[in-house]
Amino acid sequence: KMEYFKLMSNHTIPSVGLGTWKSGSQARYSVESAIVEAGYRHIDTAWAYDVEKEVGDGIKAAIHAGVERTDLFVTSKLWCTDLTPERVRPAFENTLKKLQLDYLDLYLIHWPFRLKEGASMPPKAGDVLEFDMKGVWREMERLAADGLVRDIGISNFSVAKLTKLLSFALVKPSVCQMEMHPGWRNEKMLNACKEHGIHATAYSPLGSGGKIDLLNDPVVVKVAKKLEKTPAQILVRWALQRGTSVIPKSSNPDRIKENIQVFGWEIPEEDFDSLSIFKQQKRIMDGENLFVNETDGPFKSVEELWDYED
Ligand code: A2P
Repeated sequence: KMEYFKLMSNHTIPSVGLGTWKSGSQARYSVESAIVEAGYRHIDTAWAYDVEKEVGDGIKAAIHAGVERTDLFVTSKLWCTDLTPERVRPAFENTLKKLQLDYLDLYLIHWPFRLKEGASMPPKAGDVLEFDMKGVWREMERLAADGLVRDIGISNFSVAKLTKLLSFALVKPSVCQMEMHPGWRNEKMLNACKEHGIHATAYSPLGSGGKIDLLNDPVVVKVAKKLEKTPAQILVRWALQRGTSVIPKSSNPDRIKENIQVFGWEIPEEDFDSLSIFKQQKRIMDGENLFVNETDGPFKSVEELWDYED
C-alpha cells in the first residue's frame, strides 16, 4: 500500500513515483500501466525529457479508467532555456498543455543554470547566461499563488544556491530533487534540506548511468538475496528509509511493478549500514553530464558545477 510524505505546504507526496526520463514513445503506456495496474500515484517528468505529451496521454487514459486526478501527484520541470522571469509562465503553460492538465502538483527549476535559446547540446561555455534566480522564483511563486501549481521546488541545487534562494524566497521550495543512491548519498544537500523543512526526492535511485553498476553490485545483491527482494527493490527501499521520496524509471511493466513492491518490509539496520560503505562519487552520471566538459563546457569539472561542495 502506498505511503506518503508530508510537505511543508501540508500537501502530501506519494513516496514512490515513476520516472520518465528516456521513456520516449513508451511513456504513454508506462504511465498508464503504472497508475492503473501497479498502483503508482506519482509521476515525474520534465519539459526536457520530451515526453510530456505521452505522459499526459497516459494520465488521461488512467483517469478514463477511473483514477481521480486529485489522487495523482504530477511533477514537471522548468528547463534551462526558460530560466528568465518572462519565460516562466509561458513555459509552464506549455507544459500544462502538453500534459493536458489544468494544474500541476509540483513544478521544479530543473537545473540552476540559464541557457541561451538554441544552445547546443551539450552546451558550450558561451551558452550559459546570467540566471536571475530571484526574478524566476517570484514567477514560480506567482504560479503557486494563482493555483496553477500546488507546490514549487528546485532540482540539482548546491547548498550555496539553496541558501541564496532562501534569502529572498517568500514561498520556500517544498521539494528539492537530486541524485541520490548508495554511490552518491548527497548528504550535505540532504541535511540542508532537512534543516529547512524541504522534502527531498531521489532521482536515479538505481544509479543508472553511474560508474558503479549498483543493480549488480555484490553488496546490494547480498542484501537482496538475504531479504528475498530484488536489487532494485533494495535501492528503492534504501531511499525511503532515508526519508526521501524516490522516482525509479522503468518502461517495462514487470519492472514498474517490481519497483513499487517496497512497502510492508524493511531493510534491517545492519544491512542498511552495509549499503553506506560505497565510495562517494558526486554526479556519477558522468556520461550524461550535460554541463561539464574540460575543454569547452560551461563548467570545466564536476567540482566547479557543484560549487566545490561535497
Ligand atoms: P527499463 O526502463 O528497461 O526498466 P534510474 O531510475 O536509476 O535512472 O534507473 C533506470 C534504469 O534502470 C533504466 O535503464 C531501467 O530500464 C532500469 N531499471 C528500472 N527498474 C529496474 C529493475 N527493477 N531491475 C533492473 N533494471 C531496472
